[in-house]
Amino acid sequence: TKPAFFQVAIDGPASAGKSTIAKILASQLHFVYVDTGAMYRAVTVAAKKAGLSYGDEAGITALLPTIQIDFEPGQPVQKVFLNGEEVTEAIRSTEVTNNVSLVSSYGAVRSDMVEKQRAMTEKNPVIMDGRDIGTTVLPNAQVKIFLIASVDERAARRYKENKEKGMKVDLETLKDEIKARDYKDSHRAISPLTKAADAIEVDTTGIGIDEVVAKIKKIIEEHQA
Ligand code: DC
Repeated sequence: TKPAFFQVAIDGPASAGKSTIAKILASQLHFVYVDTGAMYRAVTVAAKKAGLSYGDEAGITALLPTIQIDFEPGQPVQKVFLNGEEVTEAIRSTEVTNNVSLVSSYGAVRSDMVEKQRAMTEKNPVIMDGRDIGTTVLPNAQVKIFLIASVDERAARRYKENKEKGMKVDLETLKDEIKARDYKDSHRAISPLTKAADAIEVDTTGIGIDEVVAKIKKIIEEHQA
């Protein structure tokens, strides 16, 4: 059964360009954009604010009912709020990036986020990006894209982004961090990163953003007909 409101699921490894592409498509098509990675990052920030260690699964599980995550439109990125406090920048810190895979591996964290994510599809067409959208969150999505790019290219993109933000960066370290996150995200017990059987793979290595957007837009339009 097809969902009442159109759903586009975009999954793929870290820094493949999912959020950049999803955001542009959402604005062109007037769909709501849901950045599920930002939600797992917000939970990671909440754990830190509560003084919990990232390995404390029971503590983080107990914290979940107190966590409220909201998105607001913003430029160049959506604003993210944790219990009313803006965490748009805090969720992108190196510390959060390197611990979010562990926090997002906990069963209670995943079921809570999945429930919140599904609720966001009830009133609007959505483009949702993450790791398990096509496989678990929105298994009946009208369009499923699996976005990939080489590790070298993904690290180079992260390098450029971090440099623009004035962060101290080292290309080799970024490469190692991306590989480590890919490994953890693909090997966790619950809904690991995998390509859904009915997902269309799009390799963005060496391809510009505009071209990727055009390609996926065409796929969406074919499915809307
Ligand atoms: O897309 P991102 O890099 O902001 O995601 C951060 C982390 O959150 C990612 O390394 C794993 C986790 N995540 C997840 O487990 N499931 C999702 N649907 C999205 C992200």
